[in-house]
Amino acid sequence: MIVVDKSVFILNTKNTTYVFHRMENGYLEHLYYGDYVDFKGHYDAIIPKVEFPNGSLVVYSEEYGNIALETRAQEISTRGKGDVREPMVDVTFADGNKTCDFVYQSYEIVAKTNLQDLPSAYGEEIESLVIYMKDVRYGLILALTYSVFVESNVITRSSKLIHEGEGNIIVDRLLSMQLDLPKSSYTITSFQGAWAREMQKHTLTLDGGIFVNNSKAGISSNRNNPFMMLSDATTSEEYGACYGSNLIYSGNHYEAVEVGSNKTTRFLSGMNPFGFSFTLMPGQTIESPEAVLTFASNGFRGVSANMHQFVRNHIVRGVHQFKERPILINSWEASYFDFSEASLFRLARAAKGVGIELFVLDDGWFGKRNDDTSSLGDWSVNTKKLPNGLKGLAEKINRIGMDFGIWVEPEMINADSDCYRNHPEYAVNATLGEQSLGRHQMILDLTQLVVQDYVIEQITGVIESANITYVKWDMNRVFSDVFTASLPPDRQGEFSHRYVLGLYRVLKVLTERFPQVLFESCSSGGNRFDLGMLCYMPQVWASDNTDATCRVAIQTGYSYGYPMSVVGAHVSASPNHQTLRVTSLETRFQVACFGLLGYECNLVDLSSEELELITKQVAWYKKYRAVLQFGDYYRVMSNEAGRYQWMVVSKDKKTAIGLFFQTLVEANYSYPTFQATGLDDDRIYTFKNRRSEFNIKVFGDLINSISPVHLKQDSLAHNIVAKFMKKEYEKEEYIVSGSVLNNTGIQLKQAFVGTGYNDDMRMFQDFASRLYIIEEV
Ligand code: DGJ
Repeated sequence: MIVVDKSVFILNTKNTTYVFHRMENGYLEHLYYGDYVDFKGHYDAIIPKVEFPNGSLVVYSEEYGNIALETRAQEISTRGKGDVREPMVDVTFADGNKTCDFVYQSYEIVAKTNLQDLPSAYGEEIESLVIYMKDVRYGLILALTYSVFVESNVITRSSKLIHEGEGNIIVDRLLSMQLDLPKSSYTITSFQGAWAREMQKHTLTLDGGIFVNNSKAGISSNRNNPFMMLSDATTSEEYGACYGSNLIYSGNHYEAVEVGSNKTTRFLSGMNPFGFSFTLMPGQTIESPEAVLTFASNGFRGVSANMHQFVRNHIVRGVHQFKERPILINSWEASYFDFSEASLFRLARAAKGVGIELFVLDDGWFGKRNDDTSSLGDWSVNTKKLPNGLKGLAEKINRIGMDFGIWVEPEMINADSDCYRNHPEYAVNATLGEQSLGRHQMILDLTQLVVQDYVIEQITGVIESANITYVKWDMNRVFSDVFTASLPPDRQGEFSHRYVLGLYRVLKVLTERFPQVLFESCSSGGNRFDLGMLCYMPQVWASDNTDATCRVAIQTGYSYGYPMSVVGAHVSASPNHQTLRVTSLETRFQVACFGLLGYECNLVDLSSEELELITKQVAWYKKYRAVLQFGDYYRVMSNEAGRYQWMVVSKDKKTAIGLFFQTLVEANYSYPTFQATGLDDDRIYTFKNRRSEFNIKVFGDLINSISPVHLKQDSLAHNIVAKFMKKEYEKEEYIVSGSVLNNTGIQLKQAFVGTGYNDDMRMFQDFASRLYIIEEV
């Protein structure tokens, strides 16, 4: 809810309040952002009292001699009037002047609208406060929009420049959000990484200087995700003050945290000013992406809960928003580029046999694509591999009762392609020739309308060529050689943003043209995992790394800012193709099932025993899919000596699933508890583990302590015994109240430590895991 009380603006969500006011000089001073408070009309107490400026400060003007902007918390800052911290807006006027002086003009409260060319959050009955500021000398208007998402405890912010003056203005930076906080020494949590190592949590405490989290890769990148948190030093998972921020944008982004000379903290977020320079002609406007802000006083968990609710309800859209997502088989790690219609169909049949619902044909089906050096840009089927086309294959797959989906990488072009031979000018930096390649490919220049239309028509052709219900939209490199002949020399600084705008136009047209198709965004895994892409595609392939041990950390990282209903997670081969680590099929499944489950391995080559296990996994996932995909997710334990516990609880709190994962065995560590959370204190639940069998070979030569005859390890006899003699996991089964589950947790059965063994012991080796099912009695 938005309240304006004379010169004070108050934005209230369910649990938070955000307040600023108009100062005497017409600037906007930030006063408070935190837990919900009721001012009852009295604001004086929180307005800074300044009589004389401190030494070495510049005052705004002689008339307002007590306003030294460097020491005031502001809603927006520029350069030139005494605030020497990082600005939110920076422009060069036609006469070369860089000093900017935006002064309050008016405000309006309106129903939230979409941004013009950028994706934005949506929702019914969302109010927006728009404040108009103006630099009257140059006729430049800055419109600040605040939208209030009451239930998610989110406030979004965006900014827009409207040029009503004379001459061209160069916009050097237009960020989306500025939050000036009253103290220093916040703990900054950012999520950094690389290919196959996305979303590694990184923290530091900033008590001076500046910290920057950004992407210059042209995409939001796996290097530094745009989601960040600022918290008190004492904030933990469940307690303490925490701010969360994200950006609805898929290009170069910039988040800066600066501690100023007066020991306060400025937090900025928006498009990266690096290489950015945008010319505004009289009458033109430029809008920033929308930034997403939240606050919680119940720790990281509170921020995550707000972000999850916000992403699910106000970012993800379309027919798949709340629809259970299909379990898929993806052909990539099953056969890479080497397949035929017959081999794909064999894979589909095996997948159908275990209950999988969607067959996804990944890379390699088009042009002359037998490796990654050719054919991107030529989106016609390779008839040597698929003589009956996509249509023929899709029909066969449909006939066995599975849906059919396809992989594309529409933004890319190989030099070895008909598309490039016919239209070299479609590539980024085409006129300069010789470019640095990534995975042997160039990027199509989506700043050009003709190229956007080419991509739209090509992909429309693909989708219409067969009964396709799912599209995986990949993007496998970062930008280099940024240049386009479509822009004049002095406007090349617009390239990166215009690319993103071009991409968004393509995505808008295609997703509106094919509303029933389930799109999954991918960029070598999580190289473009952001809220911008999620406005068009309801799920993202989170990482090419399918190793369960790596995935636990990666999925935990995503969970801080994104709900599990957008995270694609697959069971793949063991040894794993990225790490060569050997992990049990059960652990691979138990980690993947917390995301949108798929399988990505050659099921045709698996043993009947493994297929039987997968059949059980798939059936179990279907039973609990609604909870796993759309329940409330909690991190209970995150990497404590390599141990993780997760929980997901249905909205009605009747059903919950817990995961306990251990990286490495710690000797003589036997008695952990499973700490549940999020259940109803007053209800009674059953707590059970998902049981399965394990191979007695895990005992190695210890088998001889129970075997009546001596078995030489790995001998034929040992292998035969192992084949027919399986042991079941320990049985955990209790009736327990919600308050015990929430508060004390369950004392799990003793883990094997080498002092004895019976059926009640928990065999919990390296990379072991258990799923716990908690259901209301
Ligand atoms: C990168 C993706 O992340 C993989 O899943 C796979 O689709 C390959 N590209 C195909 O080239």
